[in-house]
Amino acid sequence: MNKDTSSILLSSQEQTERIGETIAGLLKPHDVITVSGPLGAGKSVLCRSIIQTLCPNVTHIPSPTFSIINTYSAKHFSLFHMDLYRIKSSSELTIIGVDEALGDTTVFLVEWPDLFEQKYITNTTRLLRITMTMQSDQRTLTFETQKSCPFPYESMIDYESNNML
Ligand SMILES: Nc1ncnc2c1ncn2[C@@H]1O[C@H](COP(=O)(O)OP(=O)(O)OP(=O)(O)O)[C@@H](O)[C@H]1O
Ligand SMILES: [Mg+2]
Repeated sequence: MNKDTSSILLSSQEQTERIGETIAGLLKPHDVITVSGPLGAGKSVLCRSIIQTLCPNVTHIPSPTFSIINTYSAKHFSLFHMDLYRIKSSSELTIIGVDEALGDTTVFLVEWPDLFEQKYITNTTRLLRITMTMQSDQRTLTFETQKSCPFPYESMIDYESNNML
């Protein structure tokens, strides 16, 4: 896969939430945001901030750890927030409704995304792949996209200071 990549350092949960707000403003129907990283890295914090920005009337945004998928209605698309930690085979993704949602105006926010990426990402997917690593309250976010269909994450990064704008 032809890739582009950049990293930023976030020193508080608020900064992670601010990046979520910025990502929310860049989203278009059919985009896929995948978020990888260890337990407690902040994947749900980031996704929750994206959802809250797009759905300001939603008061409760639970982690999909047990439900696997939580859905929301944003102004221009549906949002599927997924946590695939407990999914063991890609056929289960069809059963839980991903194939169907792909045909609609859906944006996917996917935690533990390996099976999803293997099954659904093509050269024409506008993918933003985020990998989070953690050191106490600091998080490093690495952004990756596909050259064939780039997600414009560069607008979030100040390359001079190697930090976010
Ligand atoms: N800079 C930061 N960004 C995000 N979260 C942070 C940060 N610093 C501390 N935290 C804390 O880290 C925790 C992240 O929890 P969260 O549920 O988002 O993790 P997760 O990656 O989704 O884990 P899981 O794999 O279990 O779903 C929260 O308790 C949050 O308050
Ligand atoms: Mg989570």
